[in-house]
Amino acid sequence: MKLVKYLANLGYGSRREVTALLDARRVRRADGRALREGDAVTHEEIRVDGEALDPPPGSVIMLHKPAGYTTSTTDAGAVIYDLLPLRFRRRDPLLAPVGRLDRDTTGLLLLTDDGALNHRLASPRTHLPKTYEVVLAEALRGDEGALFASGTLVLHGEDAPLVPATLEVLGETRARLVLTEGRYHQVKRMFGAVGNRVTALHRSAIGGVTLGDLAPGAWRVLDAADRAALTASAPPAP
Ligand code: URA
Repeated sequence: MKLVKYLANLGYGSRREVTALLDARRVRRADGRALREGDAVTHEEIRVDGEALDPPPGSVIMLHKPAGYTTSTTDAGAVIYDLLPLRFRRRDPLLAPVGRLDRDTTGLLLLTDDGALNHRLASPRTHLPKTYEVVLAEALRGDEGALFASGTLVLHGEDAPLVPATLEVLGETRARLVLTEGRYHQVKRMFGAVGNRVTALHRSAIGGVTLGDLAPGAWRVLDAADRAALTASAPPAP
């Protein structure tokens, strides 16, 4: 792909703006030589104003989503893209979230511009386990684990039962829930179905990937080991 289009697709500006960056010699190789429009160069070699480029196409990033941010590009209030470099919102294809977290839910959110990977990670057929830490308004009754694991629970307004989920009781009003699907407001609706209410929800892991010590509001690129861990527990793509 031509350099101008490549940088424009990464959100560095319109083609006209990127051409102006090149003309102003602000786009250089790592060794300092200014790049010109027709030059063939790898992603890793390019510097814009002395800075390495943003993650290359095909990357997956993790964001530690704080409460109060909507999983959307446009919303009246704060959105997850407010936590990322402005260029990320301008990328083509977009670094899109893999599924959604509710505005008041915190924790691990993945974003990728690889549409096929996004689809695969988000698909219930991939059975990718997602781990949620749940705080409840009422004490657990004791029968929730068996019901969630049964594969018979049908949520209000739906026909298909939920696939079995694993509940680990952590305290009277605290639990860890592992789901392999991601229906609308699923965790909150599951606890609603047993007469309870979720007061705090945090996603701590997707597949074998956890937030580690990533601070709320911070993000980082998944490396090869993370990518392997992500899907290690999921069956291979069909
Ligand atoms: N289930 C919910 O109810 N909300 C989320 O944000 C994620 C899973």
